[in-house]
Amino acid sequence: MEKFVINGGAKLSGSLRVESAKNAVLPMLAGAILTDEKVIIKNCPKIEDVLTMIKILARLGVKTQFLGEDLMVDASNINGYEIPDELGKELRSSVFMMGALISRFKKAKVSYPGGCKIGARPINLHLDGLKQMGVNVIENEEYIECFASDLKGCKIKLSYPSVGATENLMLSAVLAQGKTELHGVAKEPEIVDLMQFLNKMGAKVYGAGTSTILIEGVKKLHAVEYKPIADRIEAGTYLLSAVITGGEIEVNGCDAKNIYPLIHKLCDNTCKISIKNDIIYVKSGRVPKSFDFSTGPYPFFPTDLQAQTMVLSTISQGVSTIIENVFENRFCHVSELKKMGADISVKGRRATVNGVNRLHGAKVFANDLRGGSALVLAGLNAEGVSEIYGVNHIKRGYLNIDEKLRTLGANVKLQKE
Ligand code: EPZ
Repeated sequence: MEKFVINGGAKLSGSLRVESAKNAVLPMLAGAILTDEKVIIKNCPKIEDVLTMIKILARLGVKTQFLGEDLMVDASNINGYEIPDELGKELRSSVFMMGALISRFKKAKVSYPGGCKIGARPINLHLDGLKQMGVNVIENEEYIECFASDLKGCKIKLSYPSVGATENLMLSAVLAQGKTELHGVAKEPEIVDLMQFLNKMGAKVYGAGTSTILIEGVKKLHAVEYKPIADRIEAGTYLLSAVITGGEIEVNGCDAKNIYPLIHKLCDNTCKISIKNDIIYVKSGRVPKSFDFSTGPYPFFPTDLQAQTMVLSTISQGVSTIIENVFENRFCHVSELKKMGADISVKGRRATVNGVNRLHGAKVFANDLRGGSALVLAGLNAEGVSEIYGVNHIKRGYLNIDEKLRTLGANVKLQKE
């Protein structure tokens, strides 16, 4: 069991470049099997979720190779359409593979991705859309089997702008017969990036970033070399690491408009912020003051920054109200923050936070990826030593987080128990 040991109190300062976005790279890895030609994903982060997706691709006979920072994917000898249970459960986003496998083989067999700590995470919207495109879906306790004689373009309306459902249906429609209209889709920057990736492969996708995506099915997709967008959630996490420790930071590579709701909150919160091209500079204010926010689908406040931003509210003067509208159980980090002296009460989707002067060190457990990163931020502020277990959750989405924090002046070590 690994743990982070953090001696809190250092004011972080310095600059860092964020990695390519985990949530852009994962659907692109699924999309890479839509061609027999080589796909290169530039600056591909070697984070655990990417390594798990590579394992899944390998099981299907897809060759991958890191060429320096870039990942080459060669699906010319793909020989399977079934995602093994243990891997499917390890990585929820293997569900994107469903759309890509159906596109390629007209069949797919994936284990039921099941819920995780932050919610039940059903995939009804994915399956309803696939059925409308002519896919037969057989569901049982263990897995979902899909097969189709042909994939036919059609008009699909999502009842909720699900990121995964939008991406799965894009991957199913690019090689389908005829035109597909997806209405009520997610508008996240990662969806726009997936459209650009697919179009560079020869697809005809239009409108990503708006609530309607139009796709004209094509016969074939070809090789591509593509650099995904920066990880806006990693960028936001590090911006908060400086504010929570009373320091300053320059984050390079991320388009500030992709995390505008956080930037807006930090501006409100006495921080000094300057943005020049893809450089975001933040200097913390004297004493952070309380603020309210509610998460929602893009362009609203990103749910993936809720836990990390809650840490700032725990040491902000006054009472902050946080409403989590996207996932029904995304407050697992609250009990752990309370062990560090935070004063938080939760009722349903609402957390009320009474700011305290400073947190104190404690032994805490990460339950999920973003909640885990929040505990690291709390440890950076806390007086004394914090031990954060469940590092495996954090490594899913943050490359070398301890190293990066040390370059900013944090006293953090990774220890094997
Ligand atoms: C993606 O998950 C991201 N993961 C999540 O990031 C992110 O939190 C989420 O989008 C929202 O932005 C990846 O991109 C790999 P959703 P996804 O489908 O696609 C409900 C992280 O920390 N829903 O938009 O699973 C669902 O239960 C991860 O990087 C249905 O009801 O999110 C949830 O309440 C965590 N039926 C809401 O929609 C469906 O068929 C949002 O889910 C699908 C979703």
